[in-house]
Amino acid sequence: MYIKDLSNFEGQEVTLKGWAANKRESKGLVFIILRDGTGLCQCVVDANNVSEEIFNEAKRTTLETSLTITGKIVKDEKQIGGYELQATAVSLIQVATDYPIAKKEHGVEFLMDNRHLWLRSQRQWAIMRIRNTIIFAIHKFFQGEGFLQMDAPLFTGNAVEGTSTLFETDFYGDPAYLSQSGQLYGEAMAMAHNKIYTFGPTFRAEKSKTRRHLSEFWMIEPEMAFHDIFDNMDLIERFLRAVVTDVLNTNKAELELIGRDITILENIIKPFPRLTYDEAVKIIKGEVDVNGVNAITSLEQDLASVKERIAAVNAEINEREEKIKTPGMKKGEIGFNQAKIDKLKQELADLEEQERNIPGWLKSARNFEYGNDFGGSDETVLTRLFDVPIMVYNWPHEVKAFYLKRDPENSRFARGVDTLAPEGYGEIVGGGERETDLSLLIDKINEHKLPMEAFEWYLDLRRYGSVPHAGFGLGLERLVTWICKLPHVRESIPFPRMYGRLKP
Ligand code: 4AD
Ligand code: MG
Repeated sequence: MYIKDLSNFEGQEVTLKGWAANKRESKGLVFIILRDGTGLCQCVVDANNVSEEIFNEAKRTTLETSLTITGKIVKDEKQIGGYELQATAVSLIQVATDYPIAKKEHGVEFLMDNRHLWLRSQRQWAIMRIRNTIIFAIHKFFQGEGFLQMDAPLFTGNAVEGTSTLFETDFYGDPAYLSQSGQLYGEAMAMAHNKIYTFGPTFRAEKSKTRRHLSEFWMIEPEMAFHDIFDNMDLIERFLRAVVTDVLNTNKAELELIGRDITILENIIKPFPRLTYDEAVKIIKGEVDVNGVNAITSLEQDLASVKERIAAVNAEINEREEKIKTPGMKKGEIGFNQAKIDKLKQELADLEEQERNIPGWLKSARNFEYGNDFGGSDETVLTRLFDVPIMVYNWPHEVKAFYLKRDPENSRFARGVDTLAPEGYGEIVGGGERETDLSLLIDKINEHKLPMEAFEWYLDLRRYGSVPHAGFGLGLERLVTWICKLPHVRESIPFPRMYGRLKP
């Protein structure tokens, strides 16, 4: 018996098992909000309807106490979930004392230290349900398109995505590295099965704290024989559209609970703009507008209005703080003003963060040097101007991975494509068409100072029945973060591993 199924049990007596998400008492009544992992239900224990023993049991309930409650289900639109349980029996399983996460605001570090408990909170619960839908949708999409799922090894003997982010470990006395990407193995399997995808953990040692980087994240890497970069872009677009559509169909309630404005997600049906690197650079530098909006001047305007709003918010906070000090003010009015102040302070924290960030974005946009890879700030500047994901392709070959195909029409470029999420989120997918020219590939491996003998097996794929092929890698947590509009990638995975965080 689960709370999510209560609508089938109106008027009947049921037993629910769960945890107390809240409890309050008023004369002769105990109200317990029960949480069972599938939803919430208010359970009312009335002293007139139960024995004194049961009523006392209900009174002993504390926050996060585990318990079973039996009672009749009645419809009540006003209640969370739309139903209420009128209790006839209450039985405590374990009484929790001093649950560390209280109703008040906690700092993020405290919440991260208590991640094992924080996961029970409504918002985290909703995010994990959305993550689950995304994972299922990914498999559904690829299986539906005839892809074979494969598992790539996690112990590897070589780098794929640059040598600077390798986690080294010991493999029976020899150095080995935790996998940065399953792609190279995926390419081998694509030559055996035509279309494959991996779905597994990947590791990147990145000693920096950003809102985008994890040390351990889950990556989905499809690889397709007989695909070029344009087929690849078509697939990326179809794929992301399918996944976001599934989330919209499955998780309306969760999206609402976390306050996600879904109009942006609904735009997923629109075509994704495709920009060359050259076009994207012009936009970042403010040389070309997007729908009449200029990257640089809009940032300047945003900074000005953020500053203005900060002044207004501060003034209102001061005014209300003075007001609640007035002698003789009613308790209700104090509470009302205090709630407003708390809300304003939250807004202020957001505004102050923007005030800190925008100048950095402006600086990196103004100083962007043609030929460089995009940094986080550049991606933010670019994608703030869009309301759908965009694809940036044909990158200067020097800044991209060794395996990307040189553009046959202009050898300065490699046929890589990054997909950037809108609203300032930035890269969620990286991929491209693969180099098939054996000698160009050997040159690249040398240029990147990679050990040739470790790549001999990979070069065999070009020696024996080489075909044009392409693929991409989606960072699962980056996608969850954008879909849920989270401020930081750490909330998108149950137990994040990142620079400075290995516990719990
Ligand atoms: O762009 P990346 O490094 O590409 C690859 O690994 C290719 N081998 C993929 C391929 O073509 N098969 O990583 C792909 C994606 C990024 O777009 C990003 O979403 C995610 O993986 N990603 C990270 N996510 C969280 N934390 C990190 N440190 C990440 N690094 C990459
Ligand atoms: Mg990338």
